[in-house]
Amino acid sequence: MFSIKDKVAVITGGGSGIGLATVKRFCAAGAKVVIADITDQTKLADELGCTFVKTDVTKEEDVKQLMQTACDTYGPIDSVINNAGMIMPEQLLVEAEAADFERMFRINVFGVLYGLKHAPAYMRDGGAIINTASNSADEGFSGYGAYGSSKAAVVHLTKTAAIELAPRQIRVNCICPNTVDTPLAYAEGCETELHTVNVITPLGRMCRPEECAALFHFLASDDCSYITGEDIYIDGGLKAGPGMQMFAQLLKAL
Ligand SMILES: NC(=O)c1ccc[n+]([C@@H]2O[C@H](COP(=O)([O-])OP(=O)(O)OC[C@H]3O[C@@H](n4cnc5c(N)ncnc54)[C@H](O)[C@@H]3O)[C@@H](O)[C@H]2O)c1
Repeated sequence: MFSIKDKVAVITGGGSGIGLATVKRFCAAGAKVVIADITDQTKLADELGCTFVKTDVTKEEDVKQLMQTACDTYGPIDSVINNAGMIMPEQLLVEAEAADFERMFRINVFGVLYGLKHAPAYMRDGGAIINTASNSADEGFSGYGAYGSSKAAVVHLTKTAAIELAPRQIRVNCICPNTVDTPLAYAEGCETELHTVNVITPLGRMCRPEECAALFHFLASDDCSYITGEDIYIDGGLKAGPGMQMFAQLLKAL
């Protein structure tokens, strides 16, 4: 059940955080994993018995080469996880710098687009592509306009790709986590989210990267064969509404 044994999986941003937890889980479940990251992950790949391909997802040729290498090494790809991404310091829209938006979109949007464009040629029919979006794709947060709009684009690309790849039974979904306990969550200048997540989230805590990895595992398995085009929230209940503890604190402060 939920088997991904011997499935070939490519995971971008596999060197840290959510990607790293997913690499470890997929390896433990018997998948043949290709780690793609802009930082060197040769040691990690050696330790886990998988393959590392140095990749900058903002470079289309790198992403094409990544898919080609994965297919040459292990055979046709079953799952692609377009996960590499970045955040930048909080910035109100009235202070927005076009260059910052462009840098954000280069990684968060074009990185996913190149994966969606080049993976299918190297994939088995019936495979799965899963993108990492964010709960901010659908919810406005002051200061996070560039990040949220880049993730909204990821949700849209996911839905379009799901329709276009459906004839080959390739499923395309994305996950939408709220704050996850990874280095990205502690990035300088993003303190508002970090300091409020426990208060606003109904479950009262951040998401753990292993919890995202478990969702990727389900979405990559054949047991998930009728789910495609979905943006799946993994947010401790935040989409349902703010946690009771937030109102308790608010009432105390008033
Ligand atoms: N941590 C959170 O709170 C959170 C919440 C929602 C969504 N996300 C998303 O999850 C994904 C993973 O983030 P994380 O929290 O694990 O962050 P992280 O910083 O721990 O890991 C990101 C990884 O991506 C790699 N990377 C960065 N730029 C790259 C590039 N151009 N090419 C290839 N690799 C590159 C980094 O080297 C790193 O290994 C991102 O898309 C992020 O936007 C994170």
